Amino acid sequence: MTIIHPNFGKMDANRVIIFDTTLRDGEQSPGFSMNLDEKLRMAETLAELGVDVLEAGFPVASPGDFEAVNRIAQSIKGPVICGLARSAPADITRAGEAIRPAERKRIHTFISTSPLHMKYKLRMEPDAVLEAVIASVTLARNFTDDVEWSAEDGTRTDMDFLLRCVEAAIKAGATTINIPDTVGYAVPEDMTRIFTTVREKVPGADTVIFSSHCHNDLGLAVANTLAGVRAGARQIECTINGIGERAGNASLEEVVMAIRTRPDANPYHHNIETTRILRTSKLLATITGFDVQPNKAIVGRNAFAHESGIHQDGMLKNAATYEIMTPESVGWQKTSLVMGKHSGRAAFRDKLNAMGYGDIGDNALNDAFRRFKDLADRKKIVYDEDIVALVDDEVTRAHQRVKFVSLETWGGSKSKPRALLELEIDGVTQTADCLGDGPVDATFNAIHALFPHTATLLLFSVGAVTEGTDAQARCTVRLEEDGKMVDGQGADTDTIVAAARAYVHALNKLITKRTRSEPAALSA
Ligand code: KIV
Ligand code: ZN
Repeated sequence: MTIIHPNFGKMDANRVIIFDTTLRDGEQSPGFSMNLDEKLRMAETLAELGVDVLEAGFPVASPGDFEAVNRIAQSIKGPVICGLARSAPADITRAGEAIRPAERKRIHTFISTSPLHMKYKLRMEPDAVLEAVIASVTLARNFTDDVEWSAEDGTRTDMDFLLRCVEAAIKAGATTINIPDTVGYAVPEDMTRIFTTVREKVPGADTVIFSSHCHNDLGLAVANTLAGVRAGARQIECTINGIGERAGNASLEEVVMAIRTRPDANPYHHNIETTRILRTSKLLATITGFDVQPNKAIVGRNAFAHESGIHQDGMLKNAATYEIMTPESVGWQKTSLVMGKHSGRAAFRDKLNAMGYGDIGDNALNDAFRRFKDLADRKKIVYDEDIVALVDDEVTRAHQRVKFVSLETWGGSKSKPRALLELEIDGVTQTADCLGDGPVDATFNAIHALFPHTATLLLFSVGAVTEGTDAQARCTVRLEEDGKMVDGQGADTDTIVAAARAYVHALNKLITKRTRSEPAALSA
């Protein structure tokens, strides 16, 4: 039977819907929270990447989460905008209100179905859970025809009960049925068995889309997701860089490229514009302050690097000897000399367009251009990566309370390290002159003096954006305050300036977190 989906119409049998949950399952993991502007920017980039469904957040969790989903629903065109809700009527109503402005919208409602979760987390009897499934899906249908129902901890659910719940959800009007591997416990054979059984046994299963949502606790999220698809799931739930609860979710870039690179094993198609993958991954890393590990598939810095002589020799003869996909197909570009210090503002704007940045706004453009000119004066060669680092740096800082203005430092083996720092705080420029155990310490002391806070510095790391001694440094600073952890990043040819920018970035994130109420626990 051909499925006619309320938002996607007549479904081609091998079309896979890409459901991105970077802004929900990804964002809810420690250290990955984003403010409203960051979420909007990420949502825009995900829409350009071509995701089909964008899970924008969990509206009942806090006023900030509601606003983010609502603003994304107002302004992001293309993907179906989805809000998450537990089975409680208040959750569903809030999600319905948040997604109302979207052209195409979905409510995703869930409840735990495994014996362990029902007994200890929900303290509910199975029959009460079944009633909640029916009531929640029925209520959600009042807000939209596109309703997804999820059996939380589905892979550890008793099969007979799972069949009853899925049947009830379909009868109540669910159009997508998600069976998550919530705790990352499944192996691919489990996914095959579960999806095959449910699709064979549940009446009406041929009228809905099944969805695979896998966590990575055993490193099997991508393999399990694809096993689900081979057993008939036609929606994949995933996140950029695989971020998400604990060990993360299935990584969007990995599932998408596994489908594209191995059509023999995965004869499916999706709408992702793969050349935009790297750009999206880097933006997320800049916003959250978490770089992916160097050997991360597809988007890690070493993913296409060939070090050994034998491999390099093979690559020179024919790239296909060691490359199963081209770096360009996922957005890597040959490092290129871009522009010099004589390039003008218009050329800079054109360059940003060519690199896939949309309109970043006049203020961010002006500040980025000023920093580019400064960089071109100091650095022999300005690479695309340099521009990405400084533009992302400016864009993420555009709406911050505390802004870096300037820094001078003195150090060396003889004099006492000193920092003269200017910050703009709530629009007022202020200066501090501080000493420290080193120039970085003196700089961080100056930040403390200008903006007193109780956060503890947990991590300070330095990397390079490109190669060479004149490369820009990219620093990461991790702060912790009252159990809340944030990472900030900053880039500059001067390592201490990069450190100051990273600290200020982290501080702004902490300020955002302080003003945001605690999200409601994700239990139904
Ligand atoms: O992992 C999970 O079970 C979830 C649900 C809310 C779908 O994220
Ligand atoms: Zn999840």
